Amino acid sequence: MNKNLQRGRAAHPLLWTLAAIVVVAAVVGGYLVFGPHPTDFAGGKRVALADYRAEDPTGVPPEFKSASLVERGEYLARAADCMVCHTAKDGAPFAGGRAFVLPFGTLYSTNITPDVDTGIGSYTNANFLDAMHKGIGRGNTKLYPAMPYASYTYMSDADALAIMAYLFTLKPLHAPAPKNTLAFPFDQRSLMSIWSVLFNPDKRYEPNVERSAAWNRGAYLTEAMGHCGECHTPRNLAFALNNRQKFAGTVQAGWRAYNITANRGSGVGAWSDADLAHYLSLGHADGRGTASGPMGDVVDESLSHLSPSDITAMVTYLRTVPDVATSDLPEPRANPASASYAEGVAAASATRGRAVYEGACAGCHGWTGVSPVLPFATLTGTRGVNDPTATNVAQVIIHGALRHMADTSTNMPAFGDAYSDAEIASVANYVTARFGSKGSELSAAKVAKLRSED
Ligand code: HEC
Ligand code: HEC
Ligand code: HEC
Repeated sequence: MNKNLQRGRAAHPLLWTLAAIVVVAAVVGGYLVFGPHPTDFAGGKRVALADYRAEDPTGVPPEFKSASLVERGEYLARAADCMVCHTAKDGAPFAGGRAFVLPFGTLYSTNITPDVDTGIGSYTNANFLDAMHKGIGRGNTKLYPAMPYASYTYMSDADALAIMAYLFTLKPLHAPAPKNTLAFPFDQRSLMSIWSVLFNPDKRYEPNVERSAAWNRGAYLTEAMGHCGECHTPRNLAFALNNRQKFAGTVQAGWRAYNITANRGSGVGAWSDADLAHYLSLGHADGRGTASGPMGDVVDESLSHLSPSDITAMVTYLRTVPDVATSDLPEPRANPASASYAEGVAAASATRGRAVYEGACAGCHGWTGVSPVLPFATLTGTRGVNDPTATNVAQVIIHGALRHMADTSTNMPAFGDAYSDAEIASVANYVTARFGSKGSELSAAKVAKLRSED
């Protein structure tokens, strides 16, 4: 009996230690995966939209207020950028089939034209709101968060239904989505309902009473519609957005979606309001860079269609996002010494890179990096050439870049087929060393990897 008692007593400290470890692990785990709400950083008091007395931050800007439901829906579908994700490469708009290459397989977007069999033709209003706010699709399927419903959940019912009204005016196209190739356990959709319970707030936008009307409009456009954080905010272990690092930048589909916080060196803190407004609405700001790749799509299909007042509101909101530094992004070099280029690039690759640059690039980009042809092609001062990983520089060389806006169209040809991985790496290293603040050391193997990711 004594023995048992002793054992029992001895077990107590051990049990307590174990219990303490479990509690600490749960708290740390909880801290790591449950972040703050996307607008918590602003402090102040949030109220339900119905209780908000100032100007309604949802809906369309003043110039569209008297437009028809369908026209308003079209504007809002642009603001929420539904089309790019729901269109396959060279496919019909909104007919789905775009591939999302994830670490555990490929997921395809679905057809959202009003086709009854393969699209959203049989959706009721309630079905559509479930998809947008709760991530519940056709036949009660649980959607993967690649459909950004954890952002769209903040969209008002009226705005979501206006988008639906617009989608129902499209021509119904019969287009079943290709079969996903996700590995177990990620192919288990039921897991998504657990994710959704944990990480989807399932709440509409709540205005902040201590902020201006423009700030609230900007927050609504940025969070509920433009879902900028889905690319610009790093994710945590559970694949949810980590708002402690809000807009601090991350790599998304092989492209680096840069830091857009107020940090001066690695974010957009040194940009003027006009720089930001130009970049968002035109895809370019002089001395700051040109939007290419996924951001080029965001500008072309979404932001360039927004009213000037809406762009101003987004800039107002973006300005208030707290400063977070990115350790590997140095301050862009504005005026690189024109002829010399930094050390650190292996001589052989520099020579090859220089030869490629001379033959294929200098005509448009010049030897000083200031384009003799058009401001959109100026390389100096841009984040891309000042990014020592050269990720986006390599992607632009592989894929080229095309802007097609009302009054400007520009075209950088794609070199992905013309050049080997080694040639692309060497010209990218040459460009960052010559025009940026710190040269890259991109390898051919990394270029091959980047090709497979976009
Ligand atoms: C970032 C990419 C992305 C954006 C932006 C996006 N979607 Fe999706 N959406 C997807 C993917 C991927 C799926 C398929 C998810 C799945 O199979 O679990 C999907 C699924 C859906 C579904 C469910 C279809 C079904 O099978 O029942 C609807 C409805 C939908 N999206 C509507 C929209 C609307 C409307 C917008 C714009 C407001 C939009 N999506 C924007 C990626 C996106
Ligand atoms: C689909 C992913 C994606 C979405 C959504 C997205 N971005 Fe981007 N963004 C990028 C990428 C990638 C870049 C880098 C583009 C380049 O290098 O040309 C970028 C660049 C930027 C830059 C320039 C940063 C710099 O230092 O050069 C700004 C500003 C920006 N985005 C703002 C926004 C805003 C505001 C939104 C929401 C309306 C948004 N982005 C949505 C992917 C995205
Ligand atoms: C026909 C003219 C032309 C040629 C040739 C050309 N470019 Fe470009 N380049 C452009 C234009 C125009 C842009 C802006 C693209 C846009 O509008 O999105 C650009 C953009 C870029 C960017 C992104 C700049 C930023 O703001 O982030 C890089 C990097 C780049 N080019 C490098 C190269 C390299 C390296 C070569 C040679 C292999 C090359 N370019 C050849 C016209 C050209």
